[in-house]
Amino acid sequence: LIVLVSHSDDEHTRRVIAELERLGATFFLLDTGAFPARSSLRMSFSRERVEHSMSVGGRDVGLSSARSAWWRRPQPYQLDGALAQDMRDFAHGECHEAMAGLWGALDVAWMNPPGADERAHHKPYQLAVARAVGLDVPRTLITNDPEAAREFASAVAPTRLVYKTFLATERHWRETRILGPQEWALLDRVRLAPVIFQEFVDAEADLRVTAVGETLVAAQIASSAHGYLADYRMDMDAARFSPTELPDSTRTKLLELMARLGLVYGAIDLRRRSDGSYVFLEVNPAGEWLFVEERTGQLITRAVAECLVALGRP
Ligand SMILES: Nc1ncnc2c1ncn2[C@@H]1O[C@H](COP(=O)(O)OP(=O)(O)O)[C@@H](O)[C@H]1O
Ligand SMILES: [Mg+2]
Repeated sequence: LIVLVSHSDDEHTRRVIAELERLGATFFLLDTGAFPARSSLRMSFSRERVEHSMSVGGRDVGLSSARSAWWRRPQPYQLDGALAQDMRDFAHGECHEAMAGLWGALDVAWMNPPGADERAHHKPYQLAVARAVGLDVPRTLITNDPEAAREFASAVAPTRLVYKTFLATERHWRETRILGPQEWALLDRVRLAPVIFQEFVDAEADLRVTAVGETLVAAQIASSAHGYLADYRMDMDAARFSPTELPDSTRTKLLELMARLGLVYGAIDLRRRSDGSYVFLEVNPAGEWLFVEERTGQLITRAVAECLVALGRP
């Protein structure tokens, strides 16, 4: 059994499910968004045995036979709306403890282990590990000190500077932007919250490398010459995607990065300079791949499904 921690509105999950069905694999879609209101958890421990199961919609699924699991899109717990805020917080904590305990108690190989996913998404940590494995990273300053930001900006000014956020949520999505005169005037505001400042890496192409186990699927994205300079996602129609190959030395470093971060899956953003060198930007531990697959025809969904099946083999 393969446990998919996600929900049915996630298109990536739906595609992987279709692929698992094609492979004849059994799976269980475990939606934490139905818990505790609409799904039941039982974890029992005795001298003789340990047994865990979840039931949802009248279907009871034993989790003891699970051998691999996908940490894809865990949803917020569904708490009783009538609870007062402090009781809600308490209920949330208890739900979380039970579920986090379940993840640990399952006898599965994870893509990705929930703890590794949580640690690995932190950008400063990624930059540190990327440097340590020998990847080139942009000159970066992360600070809430306006003076330090101004100094860094002046020092890097001959090239250009971008700034970016730590988190991209659906409510607060902010693309990477070039620091212009307006932002210069606002630098005092970094006192409100730290910002990531980075040298602008001049490049001939962006790369999206999807790592699935030991497989690295590389796609390059050439933005239109007149398009937005700093973030190809701002003009996806103008971006031209094509499959590409990475040099062995870069592949080795990326696999080492994944291993050190404890990740089985990761969507890695790189840039390639015109001299052929690669610069690491970030890795998204549960990042999207369909936008690549749809444009390049690379079979990433299949690789993900096959990897989940393979992880479950002894
Ligand atoms: N230092 C940089 N120099 C040039 N372009 C950058 C730089 N950092 C990010 N970008 C562009 O912006 C995109 C988004 O940045 P990224 O670091 O991947 O953050 P996120 O995806 O979390 O917003 C990158 O894929 C790249 O196109
Ligand atoms: Mg990115």
